[in-house]
Amino acid sequence: MRAGITGTGSFVPEKVLTNHDIEKMVDTSDEWIIERTGIRERRIAEDGINTSDLAVEAAKRALDRACLRARDIDLIIVATVTGDMPLPSTACFVQKKLKAKKAAAFDINAACSGFTFGLSVANAYIKSCMAKRVLLIGAETLSRITDWEDRSTCVLLGDGAGAVVVEPSDNDSGIWSVDIFTDGSIWNLLNVPAGGSAFPASEETVKNRMHFLKMKGNETFKIAVRTLEKAVVDTLKKNRISASDVSLLVPHQANLRIIQATAKRLNMNMDKVVVNVDRYGNTSAASIPIALDEACRQGRIRKGDFILLESFGGGLTWSSALIKW
Ligand code: COA
Repeated sequence: MRAGITGTGSFVPEKVLTNHDIEKMVDTSDEWIIERTGIRERRIAEDGINTSDLAVEAAKRALDRACLRARDIDLIIVATVTGDMPLPSTACFVQKKLKAKKAAAFDINAACSGFTFGLSVANAYIKSCMAKRVLLIGAETLSRITDWEDRSTCVLLGDGAGAVVVEPSDNDSGIWSVDIFTDGSIWNLLNVPAGGSAFPASEETVKNRMHFLKMKGNETFKIAVRTLEKAVVDTLKKNRISASDVSLLVPHQANLRIIQATAKRLNMNMDKVVVNVDRYGNTSAASIPIALDEACRQGRIRKGDFILLESFGGGLTWSSALIKW
């Protein structure tokens, strides 16, 4: 038995922050940001809107498309690095707001790879019959951990949420493989230093801006390109299909140049690649499910299509997954 995606949904806040808006905040330019990243604008959650609020809106849409009610769900997984609070998990708030009384709920943290790591968990729960209907959500309010004085990171990030419903599938459609990888020895390339047990919140950590995301962008970029190329090629080999059999590549949306490099390695035309980094920037765990949902709604995914997902993020973590729709 395979696990398959039976519904997708996404939600982004209304407020748009353009590159021109950021030009007024730090020493940068619209041209630089577009040329180096492909990003033109990103969405920002208004004060008082939490990660769980974005998650709930995306989840409701995914449930509608799967023709399910919240009370049908037996497991909720939220992938996020910007939970509402350190405790309880954001998944608990989502469970409460959806009134999904039957569902157990927990968060996972695999940074930008959170959605695909979560997909591997959902897949395992369904295949082992430990759950029948899993709601998997990637949701982030990265604007809350963005240092708006650091031009090397603030141009990259945005807020949003995407969700999928995962259920048993009755034929050869569904998740064919989902492979996840980690190299904790290079955690220092991308992190939020304070707020945990290493550096609990203090006057000092606030003064030193340690609650904001830090990234060594250039080194991360090179590793991302190298590892993703290998991961997607290995996935195709393992499933004995070629890149030309893949109808759509749905990559994590961090940087258009990273996306293009993976597509080039696979000899895939960019018209077979979902790109929305120009409109949302990097929304971490939310980026793949938002892209997947948009592709579904645009009619770019048909039954029987092979869809390839790939992600890369803090940890470092990376992944590749193949789904037959
Ligand atoms: N506007 C203008 N100049 C900027 C800038 C900005 N917003 N941010 C950095 N620069 C400058 C740097 O200061 C540097 O100047 P210098 O040469 O005078 O020192 C120059 O631009 C080049 O910086 P560099 O970091 O080498 O640029 P880059 O081509 O690597 O692009 C990123 C930077 C962040 C866009 C790119 O490295 C990236 O996308 N990294 C990976 C992101 C990622 O995948 N993250 C993990 C997954 S979430």
